[in-house]
Amino acid sequence: MEVQAGAVATGREHPSPPRPYTPPQRLWPATPRGVNEARHALAEKLTEWSLPELADSASLVLAELMTNAQKHGWVDGRSIGVSVSRIDTGVLIEVHDARGEHLPRLVAASLTDVGGRGLAIVDAVTGQRWGVMEREGPGKVVWAVCSAA
Ligand SMILES: Nc1ncnc2c1ncn2[C@@H]1O[C@H](COP(=O)(O)OP(=O)(O)OP(=O)(O)O)[C@@H](O)[C@H]1O
Ligand SMILES: [Mg+2]
Repeated sequence: MEVQAGAVATGREHPSPPRPYTPPQRLWPATPRGVNEARHALAEKLTEWSLPELADSASLVLAELMTNAQKHGWVDGRSIGVSVSRIDTGVLIEVHDARGEHLPRLVAASLTDVGGRGLAIVDAVTGQRWGVMEREGPGKVVWAVCSAA
């Protein structure tokens, strides 16, 4: 598989990141409360940008990526970096974590599997517009774009 500049292989082709690496706008605690607060901040931005139609999808994607960062990408003592940006095609969500050696991968969850569905939901909701890019320092950025239908 060909890996595009700035991108990281995750087991299948992904679109290029919409922009090069940019440091996170905000840091949130790596806790459920941190996810909740980040969702509220996202909702305020969407209101400011007059994009209420993206509230559900963007909130779901943000929560899934932040939960993954906590569950699979967390390093003790580190916060979760998040950026939410208005781009031409909608809203770009970027979640930074501190573990570069493990990458997100789409898995086919069976009926009896407890987990393994979050990224499949992100994949569907974003129309496959998500991926991983390298960050400055250890870790990675998982990004996704939510657009109006
Ligand atoms: N930020 C991340 N860092 C490292 N590995 C990740 C990250 N996000 C996802 N993964 C890997 O990709 C797999 C699939 O992620 P996915 O979100 O679909 O499932 P899950 O988090 O295991 O369960 P669920 O989201 O359904 O509760 C994970 O099991 C993990 O191995
Ligand atoms: Mg998950």
